[in-house]
Amino acid sequence: MKNKLAVIILAAGKSTRMKSETPKVLHHICGRPVLSYVLDTVKELKADKVVAVLGYKHEEVSKILPKGVKAVIQHKLIGTADAVKTALAVLRGFRGTVLVLYGDTPLLKKDTINKLLKYHNENSMDATLLIAQLEKPAGYGRVLRDEYTSVCGIKEDKDADDFEKDIKEINTGIICFNKQSLSSVLGRIRPNNRKKEYYLTDAVTLLYNGGKLVDGIKIADINEALGINSRVELAKANGIMQARINERLMLEGVSIVDPSSAFISYGTKIGRDTVIYPFTAIESNVKIGKRCFVGPFAHLREGTVLEDDVVIGNFFEAVRARVGAGTWAKHFSYLGDAKIGRKVNIGAGTVIANFDGKNKHFTAIKDKAMIGSDTVLVAPVTVGKGSMTGAGSIVTRDVADNTVVAGVPARALRKKR
Ligand code: UD1
Ligand code: CA
Repeated sequence: MKNKLAVIILAAGKSTRMKSETPKVLHHICGRPVLSYVLDTVKELKADKVVAVLGYKHEEVSKILPKGVKAVIQHKLIGTADAVKTALAVLRGFRGTVLVLYGDTPLLKKDTINKLLKYHNENSMDATLLIAQLEKPAGYGRVLRDEYTSVCGIKEDKDADDFEKDIKEINTGIICFNKQSLSSVLGRIRPNNRKKEYYLTDAVTLLYNGGKLVDGIKIADINEALGINSRVELAKANGIMQARINERLMLEGVSIVDPSSAFISYGTKIGRDTVIYPFTAIESNVKIGKRCFVGPFAHLREGTVLEDDVVIGNFFEAVRARVGAGTWAKHFSYLGDAKIGRKVNIGAGTVIANFDGKNKHFTAIKDKAMIGSDTVLVAPVTVGKGSMTGAGSIVTRDVADNTVVAGVPARALRKKR
């Protein structure tokens, strides 16, 4: 029979080293919270139970938990062992494997966790660690081995002596436990360390000392183990995640001219044969069709949709805008809260004035309209099908279909033939 699986995600911590009012698991990488990546990975594991331990600003953090993830509150943040204990309170009847993950390690992949679970379950271990070999192990808990080179404990960085500090094998923080074995030692953990915290890592030492089966497997890609404790690590994780996102898009048929300067949010959908030019920033919830050209220096914000064959040039910004197939906006434009039809030409310097100081208003530009250079469209306003605005127009009233307008404010000059 398959071993039952419960996952405990530890996410109660403050942001001491982040120096932030925001809980660290809510800081963003590639357009979404750090914790969301962990939650996604956990979802793929199809666990029987998932418990998230929240503490610092838990009302805020709980908002991003999906259904099926049970939140428990750790009222005093006195260490990872106490956090796990809090979670076990809602896993009373559960028997099987308990996987402990940290909410601040967003780069960890499902396959790696599955390897760990497989090893743990097949060998009926009491505890199995996910270990990484780091050239610069500072800050991490070091893996201790006995004279037979078996894993016998973990020493936290702050408590390690000079000899232990030289150990390059580190605890990634991801540990599998047999539920019963874990419960049997948790109560015996004491805060005998520099931080005066109850360390979950001491459970490993206690199990080993009690003659239980303890081991670890090594992670292939050490980047997966990166824990976010400071903004330096936040930026590093962002870079690694961005490289993964860009690589996946390229393999799906999107050209990214310079991946190092393409800032594309996680989950962005981009169609085949679209080309992304340098210094393009794409925020979350953006969709781009096939055969589009975007950038250089384009900023596509939340809620933007580019249909197929759209050309967006340099210094362009859009937010909550749908841009129809075959439309061009090649130079210096801002399109906010708008629906642009097909084959529209947005002239250089076109601006939609969507905000009146209090409210945002909607603008529609219908198919095949020609918006002259430097036009300001004062929302709410509609430009009809096939219509044209003269260069420098300030459009304050709706423009009927096939009409040419110009001036400040813009007035109809004639019907287009
Ligand atoms: C921890 C490990 C260390 C490992 C490193 C990997 C312990 C004692 N140490 O150290 O061996 O190398 O992760 O990144 O486990 N948390 C709670 N409640 C608490 C304390 C922490 O939920 O009372 C959560 C934090 O929000 C965080 C995670 O547990 O998500 C780890 O805590 P953190 O303080 O970042 O531990 P590290 O010092 O990084
Ligand atoms: Ca950490």
